[in-house]
Amino acid sequence: MKKIFAMGLFACMAFLLSCGGGGDKSSNNEASSGEAPKSMVADASSYDPKRGEGKFDADNLKIEATLNAEMAASGEKIQGTKCASCHKTTEEKLVGPGWKGVTTRRTPQWIMNFITNPDPMIDKDPEVQAQLEICLVRMPNQSLTDDDARHILEFMRKNDGLK
Ligand code: HEC
Repeated sequence: MKKIFAMGLFACMAFLLSCGGGGDKSSNNEASSGEAPKSMVADASSYDPKRGEGKFDADNLKIEATLNAEMAASGEKIQGTKCASCHKTTEEKLVGPGWKGVTTRRTPQWIMNFITNPDPMIDKDPEVQAQLEICLVRMPNQSLTDDDARHILEFMRKNDGLK
């Protein structure tokens, strides 16, 4: 129970921080109004929901058809310290959505772009905005290196049953 309480507290803090920092007005009313500010709508026209926004695309991100067990093991460790406080590996929501099935919902490029730099995509991706309305927390940037991110992606693939 204590642990759950601590997580709740952490979530609240993260929420307050995200409202206070960054000066992003959208954080203040996203829960109640559900209306995207005009600036977001304009940006969204050039947004590719399959790739997300960031430096990773189908050309520079090499994904094998089989699992790289070493990378997955490294990714499992990193997520244990940086992600597990908000994400379960099942379908169940904690602070953020459960990870089960995430590699079928999203492309590898989308996941890499999002987890290395969530902010621009939280502002533009309609599905992330829908999650934000449920979770009420903006996922904080976890300062992942490209390698960290790639290893976590491999762990997600393993978690979704890839061998
Ligand atoms: C403070 C809580 C928190 C932490 C820590 C966190 N996330 Fe998130 N994450 C969220 C929330 C909340 C969302 C839903 C989108 C939003 O509201 O920003 C999300 C969404 C996601 C998604 C999209 C899921 C989907 O189904 O589309 C991925 C992928 C993800 N997070 C990966 C990570 C990774 C990888 C880490 C660790 C490096 C991490 N998250 C750490 C809160 C967190």
